Amino acid sequence: MMDAARPIPSERKAREPTATDAEKGASEIYSARIDSYLRFIRWVGYPQGLRAVFMRSPALHPDLRILDAGCGTGVTTFALHAALEARGLSARRIDAFDLTPAMLERFRIRLASAEIEDVHLMQANVLDLETLPEDWKGYDVVITASMLEYIPRSDLARALGGLRRRLREGGTLHLFITRNNFLMRPLIQRWWSANLYTREELRGALEEAGFVEFGFGHFPFPHRHLDLWGHVVRARAR
Ligand SMILES: C[S@@+](CC[C@H](N)C(=O)[O-])C[C@H]1O[C@@H](n2cnc3c(N)ncnc32)[C@H](O)[C@@H]1O
Repeated sequence: MMDAARPIPSERKAREPTATDAEKGASEIYSARIDSYLRFIRWVGYPQGLRAVFMRSPALHPDLRILDAGCGTGVTTFALHAALEARGLSARRIDAFDLTPAMLERFRIRLASAEIEDVHLMQANVLDLETLPEDWKGYDVVITASMLEYIPRSDLARALGGLRRRLREGGTLHLFITRNNFLMRPLIQRWWSANLYTREELRGALEEAGFVEFGFGHFPFPHRHLDLWGHVVRARAR
């Protein structure tokens, strides 16, 4: 059955989806397919891979203010939280936002069952960060994983610029985003209706967003298979 709210295939071909199409699309997908998403990432060991990256991150220090942009059910926040604990560090404050209420609800339930109280959640769109509370800025670290794929390609630099402005001077962006390769085209682009990026495209968008220092890393052993999926980027705001 065709969903009346979604563009028909010929329309999809005729123009790049607008930000509104993309938001509706992402929110519908993640409202309907939360459990498939969680099964899929468990199967590939994505949460463990994220944690391993954070275990080695030089950007983690005691008393950090952290923002998780496009937090979903909290997989990235939990990975970071676990890495902080394992390193004997703790965050001063963690804020997180996402577009999809159903994902945020799942995140709230997980926080409650883990008895974690120091995480503040909000519904927001990465392309409209003015709706965030006034004091959601000056972060030491912004993490964003598997989210920027869902905004129109033409808005990537603008979204990254918005996140950069939420960082304090010298703060770090940890970005995880899907690669453009033969495996991700069927698996992520088609199955999850997401955009894929080359390293060159990301470099251009990060520069345009005003990041002056950035580097491409990888998932540490034994999580190297995740390199097939995504870019691991660390960028600093001046
Ligand atoms: C693949 S999930 C990733 C969730 C989490 N970061 C993780 O790594 O598991 C993508 C998330 O991006 C969110 N999202 C998509 N477009 C967004 C937007 N414009 N602003 C904020 N969140 C968005 C979706 O609601 C969904 O929860």
